Amino acid sequence: RPPIVLDSDPGIDDALALQYLLGTGRWDLKAYTSVGGNLPAEQTYLNARALTRAFGIDADVPVHRGAGRPLTRLPYTAATAFHGPAGLGNETLPDSTAARLPESSAQALLRLSRQYEGELTVCATGPLTNVAIALLEDPGFAHRVRKFVFMGGAAQVPGNITPVAEFNIWADPDAAEVVLSSGIPFTMVDLDASHHWLVRPADLAVLEAAGPGTALAARLLRAYMDAYQRHGGDDACPLHDPLAVGACADESYLTTAEGAVIVESTSELTRGKTVFVPSAASRVFYADSPTLTARMALTGRVALGPGPRDFTK
Ligand code: BDR
Ligand code: CA
Repeated sequence: RPPIVLDSDPGIDDALALQYLLGTGRWDLKAYTSVGGNLPAEQTYLNARALTRAFGIDADVPVHRGAGRPLTRLPYTAATAFHGPAGLGNETLPDSTAARLPESSAQALLRLSRQYEGELTVCATGPLTNVAIALLEDPGFAHRVRKFVFMGGAAQVPGNITPVAEFNIWADPDAAEVVLSSGIPFTMVDLDASHHWLVRPADLAVLEAAGPGTALAARLLRAYMDAYQRHGGDDACPLHDPLAVGACADESYLTTAEGAVIVESTSELTRGKTVFVPSAASRVFYADSPTLTARMALTGRVALGPGPRDFTK
């Protein structure tokens, strides 16, 4: 099974992404690296530890603690309105039995990229702080990773934390720009796609009826769906982070286009906006700016909508 690292800020949909990754049985999860985002770094680390125990992998999968704060900014206070008081709905899960590891998330990412050079998939479902720290320490990380898939951004649609920005990119826009200008082979699983893959009460009922193996996931999903409804959504709720895990194996869950993604980091009003520059069109933009022209040459694949294959089945 191919090696993968999941870098997350659990977070309810991050937790569902982990369970989904394990449930596919197709990956060798080498590490679960936490990052601050939905909650501060210590809390997402504790949640990541607790989840490995809840899913029975705490003896096998090391959990690393992520950066204490975004690259240059203060941490976001907490997305508790969506994810619950400690980030996992109404759950209070027991801690992992494993000892705390001294190696940080970024260090673990770097080590594993050397150990599994050319083979390692990295999937990020939180702010890109850890990945940016790894790249700043060793730019070669970008070329050792086989594939980097992240949930974040909004190529064409409005944002979900501000009118123009998606949460993960908004939380650490400087990190996102480091990553997206590094030359790493990226696939951006953004709101353009995730807002189409919705779970509905009938899907939740299936999960609730499926038995003890999915009871925690069902409770988490119910808490997430309730939160979306409290925030003015209808009874359908997007599966952002699990979709990124799905796309690691199968990009036919997405419709993608090749292009560069440039992140706005200087304006407070448009902080974290992802500007998608399709490769096909980039030659006509900014012809007078060598810097932007060079930046636009660093491309990846960007989701512009749902793909032909059904992700919710
Ligand atoms: C992203 O924001 C977080 O709250 C979710 O976990 C997901 O990663 C969606 O914008
Ligand atoms: Ca997340």
